[in-house]
Amino acid sequence: MLRHFVQILDFSSIELQKIMELTALLKKADKEGACPRLLQGASLGMIFEEPSTRTRVSFEVAMTKLGGHALYLRPGEIHLGARESIADTARVVSRMVDVIEARTLKHQTVLDLAKYATVPVINGLTDFNHPTQVLCDVFTMTEHAPKEKKLTDLHLTFVGDATNVCVSLMFICARLGISFTQAAPAKYQVSEAHRAMVKDACAESGATISFTDDPVAAVSAADFIYTDLWWWIGQEDEIPERRAAFMPKFQVNADLLSKAPATARFMHCLPASRGVEATDEVMDGPQSIIYDQSENRLHTEKALLVWFVYPRLKRASDSLIAHHRGLVEAFLG
Ligand code: CP
Repeated sequence: MLRHFVQILDFSSIELQKIMELTALLKKADKEGACPRLLQGASLGMIFEEPSTRTRVSFEVAMTKLGGHALYLRPGEIHLGARESIADTARVVSRMVDVIEARTLKHQTVLDLAKYATVPVINGLTDFNHPTQVLCDVFTMTEHAPKEKKLTDLHLTFVGDATNVCVSLMFICARLGISFTQAAPAKYQVSEAHRAMVKDACAESGATISFTDDPVAAVSAADFIYTDLWWWIGQEDEIPERRAAFMPKFQVNADLLSKAPATARFMHCLPASRGVEATDEVMDGPQSIIYDQSENRLHTEKALLVWFVYPRLKRASDSLIAHHRGLVEAFLG
């Protein structure tokens, strides 16, 4: 069955942990200058309806390191949804590439691409969720967790708006048994509809998910403190209201960090508005692991690409390749 990576909850705890183990193997290989060229000759189509630094660079470099090739496809340069239906774009691009990554304004667009594509589709961020980011985040947490703690002993506190990253963190914590708390004004907490989606996952994994408007209490037992932008493209009209709701109580600054255990680590998916949701002092401080997170996007994308593409690739024998080369050379004279 063709599977896509559009939503964390579509994957079991074991599958997510396997992809993280694969990430660790590929990261180690890369650090030794020995990234295996497992996707030689394969192509990735990257559709971006919004700008990106980390997602674009990580997917493109991952594909190159694995021996494949990536194409950057922007609306305006391809016909997606304008002069050609999403279904036809998915069907046509699938005939030429081995995997599609898509960052789209609406989650429905990624769902439609996945519905009609005949190759795996990986969600590179939608208005609903950001699964590749949070898989990378939990991998990063495993690298920085206190030695004595297992995944299910960890506590992640998200301070800020219920962004797509926040919702996805709640999903992956629920699936993997990590305790999750969001600290935000009530209006900006994860919706009841999204909370309901993790009920079964929490029952299975034992994860506790909680919400509060008290950031000091929320960070008091946190192993990881995470924040994200307070507003995004399209929310410019709401900036004064949002700033008033979050500042200064929900800013991750030295004062708030001092209320957390000394071993707590600071995380941000980036890009950040420095001095808004987090101060320079915290972002550049000794507890910050934000650039490890960014680098790990590369290693996670390599693992995702290998996980989804490698089992589907046709790997012809040297003799079969020589046979076809001989036929073509004979034809050309
Ligand atoms: N965190 C993240 O997805 O970054 P980009 O928007 O730069 O891809």
